[in-house]
Amino acid sequence: MIAVISPKGGAGKTTVASNLAVGLAGAAPHGTVLLDLDLQFGDIASALTISPEHWVTDAVQGPAGRDTMVLKSFLSAHSSGLYALCAPESPAMADQVTGDQVAHLVDQLAGLYRFVVIDTSPGLSEHTLAALDKATDLVMVSSMDVPGVRGMRKELDVLRELDMAATKRHLVLNAADPRDGLSLRDVETTLGLAVDVVVPASRTVRLSVNQGAPLLSTNGRDPASKALRKLVGRFAPTPTPTRKRGARHRIGTP
Ligand SMILES: Nc1ncnc2c1ncn2[C@@H]1O[C@H](COP(=O)(O)OP(=O)(O)OP(=O)(O)O)[C@@H](O)[C@H]1O
Ligand SMILES: [Mg+2]
Repeated sequence: MIAVISPKGGAGKTTVASNLAVGLAGAAPHGTVLLDLDLQFGDIASALTISPEHWVTDAVQGPAGRDTMVLKSFLSAHSSGLYALCAPESPAMADQVTGDQVAHLVDQLAGLYRFVVIDTSPGLSEHTLAALDKATDLVMVSSMDVPGVRGMRKELDVLRELDMAATKRHLVLNAADPRDGLSLRDVETTLGLAVDVVVPASRTVRLSVNQGAPLLSTNGRDPASKALRKLVGRFAPTPTPTRKRGARHRIGTP
């Protein structure tokens, strides 16, 4: 159960969560689900170009809470083999979902799928806190600017107070551009933590978001794709390609 969080809006949570989920679906086809817990303004449907027929609100009310077959029928399939449970279309509907319902939903999904990736709203809402309580791993996304890094430091303090010592942390510095005046060392010193993955600021990322096609849907070799693949590898190490039987003997043969 991997929760993707950030204290600030626009840091890249949805971009990171959707790419992580698509990458994990490559390792565990039909074994990965992406849950959009940004219940007011979630945009996983747009990030994946899917048109859901059911939303988180359906999944936490009525029979889906008791029957996992019904819950499964509320998920939307993506071409990568990923399943998604999207945020409701109207922001007003977010109020219908309680923290306890989120906790139960995450438990249900964890019983059905190998990877549950959870996108969240900025900060620590009731829904995010319920997800954090269940998460085995936190992907903490920070922008590379002073307000973003300071916000992350405060969020880390809160997480310490919440006693989440058993939850593994993965720090992602997103949209990093060395010309912006902050160095990696500045960030690590302020946070007192090592940065695990640096995703560069990239036009390719912006294009992929606008096109609704996560970068990791394709086998791109650009630096942002490589960084996002490195994040995926922290959860599902890529198997070393095995040499085809007899391949050695074919080298140099016409
Ligand atoms: N590495 C990057 N390089 C360039 N642009 C990026 C990068 N990562 C994200 N963006 C852009 O930043 C914008 C915000 O990204 P995203 O929606 O993933 O952030 P968010 O944290 O989910 O925002 P919100 O808090 O509103 O949910 C998007 O338009 C996206 O294209
Ligand atoms: Mg988002």
